[in-house]
Amino acid sequence: MDCSHIQFCLEQSKINLEQLQKLLEIGAFWAKNRTIEGLSIAIANSNPVVTVWDRNLLIGFARATSDGIYRAAIWDVVIHPDYRGNGLGLKLVETVLAHPQVNKVERVYLTTTNQRSFYERIGFERNNTNTMVLYNNTCIETIYQHQTSEVF
Ligand SMILES: CC(C)(COP(=O)(O)OP(=O)(O)OC[C@H]1O[C@@H](n2cnc3c(N)ncnc32)[C@H](O)[C@@H]1OP(=O)(O)O)[C@@H](O)C(=O)NCCC(=O)NCCS
Repeated sequence: MDCSHIQFCLEQSKINLEQLQKLLEIGAFWAKNRTIEGLSIAIANSNPVVTVWDRNLLIGFARATSDGIYRAAIWDVVIHPDYRGNGLGLKLVETVLAHPQVNKVERVYLTTTNQRSFYERIGFERNNTNTMVLYNNTCIETIYQHQTSEVF
């Protein structure tokens, strides 16, 4: 596939949330039921947010959260199934890692189920993780309403 016209974008304002919701449904098993409101909150609180475009079609997405110096995490890395195997995923993750909000950070984390080998090619290492997780069962819309109602 000729990918020379594919563009990478860092501007959050250009993201079409309906297209993002669809891309995640098609390509990201962990993010199939995300709402437009939830995605909007996630994007607003992430930096960088990288999108990949085939003209007006959103074909890739990744985002990071970072404190700018000690710790960062990369989330929701996805390339549309029709475009995989062309080096776009590699460039997508490299674009996140090169961003000033991430490139000086001591440790960059991510969670992956099936793509360890892909990330090892980029330089990530497997670790004997001490990670713990709290599954917050509160509905995301409830959190959103709660947050907005507490802003004075
Ligand atoms: C993981 C993903 C983003 C990779 O995107 P991609 O565009 O296909 O990846 P690339 O074409 O840039 O591949 C880069 C290199 O990694 C290799 N690679 C890609 N996926 C791989 C995998 N699952 N295991 C091992 N190597 C892999 C490619 O062969 C390529 O190697 P090369 O440089 O020697 O040719 C894509 O497969 C995807 O969206 N998967 C579903 C969502 C997902 O699992 N995301 C990660 C969640 S943390």
